[in-house]
Amino acid sequence: MAYRSKADNLELTVVMDNYVDVILKDEDPVKRWGVKSALSSPRQLIAEHGLSLLVEVSKGELKRKVLMDFGYTEEGVLRNLELLGVNLKSIDMLFLSHGHRDHYAALINVLKSIGRPIPVYVHPDAFNERLFTFPDGDTIGPWQLKPKDIEEAGGVVVASKNPIPLAPGLFTSGEVKRVTDFEKPMEVSKRVKDGLYEDDPILDDQALIVNLEGKGLVVIAGCAHAGIINTIRHAMEITGENKLYAVVGGFHLSGAEASILDKTLEELRKLSPELIMPMHCTGFQATLKIALAMPKAFKLSSVGTKLVLKGG
Ligand SMILES: [Fe+2]
Ligand SMILES: [Fe+2]
Repeated sequence: MAYRSKADNLELTVVMDNYVDVILKDEDPVKRWGVKSALSSPRQLIAEHGLSLLVEVSKGELKRKVLMDFGYTEEGVLRNLELLGVNLKSIDMLFLSHGHRDHYAALINVLKSIGRPIPVYVHPDAFNERLFTFPDGDTIGPWQLKPKDIEEAGGVVVASKNPIPLAPGLFTSGEVKRVTDFEKPMEVSKRVKDGLYEDDPILDDQALIVNLEGKGLVVIAGCAHAGIINTIRHAMEITGENKLYAVVGGFHLSGAEASILDKTLEELRKLSPELIMPMHCTGFQATLKIALAMPKAFKLSSVGTKLVLKGG
């Protein structure tokens, strides 16, 4: 089934990312938190190895606000939301891109602060028990996000492997089809099954997709463990929209083999988005290569940055 509705406008705020720079200047359509905001408070926005994005879409008078992902620590996202002046009560729903700690850590605290029942959209595999194993034999973990903890904090779990429309022109990707021959799952990630651990394909990895009127798709990736090219192609398939307007979020290219990076870059250039803002697990090398290869489209992400994208 294709999802055909479109949004009039999209505002996306970087609530948490791996980098913060308060001196960056506005450059349309990117608004920065800015040096004046920073100087006027002794409390500062903080960066973490984690991600959290506030996604606001509108269609006519209808506005919907989704908080996507919740950073690496239990406190960071709440602190940044407060400094950014976001009223938690105004958030309509929560979306978790996948069950890795750098995306879910503050979820329970956010739910408690919202203080009323609110849907939490997620793929069922996000509740797998997980650990990381390293080539030197070390293991770290296990961790597990439990539906019971979400429900007890006021969340209403909506677990689905399929895409779900959240608002006009806004969809969850559902499980991303993996079709490219160069994008591979993360090797160190394992899942626990029957007391043993096995390779984890991270099937829970999802993106948010916005189809912006007159502009095309905005793909908002969490970690893109399915591969950012697979994620974009999947978004095109479920919306029937072949124009990629913008791609943002974690592209999971940190430490990637040169061949994977080169092929990803080649595909991104062919897709030719007007705006590309790599975040989080994209990594410095890949971010630099994208910036050099697509200088007009590239915008640097920083905590507190807001994208204001108007359709039409
Ligand atoms: Fe991840
Ligand atoms: Fe991540």
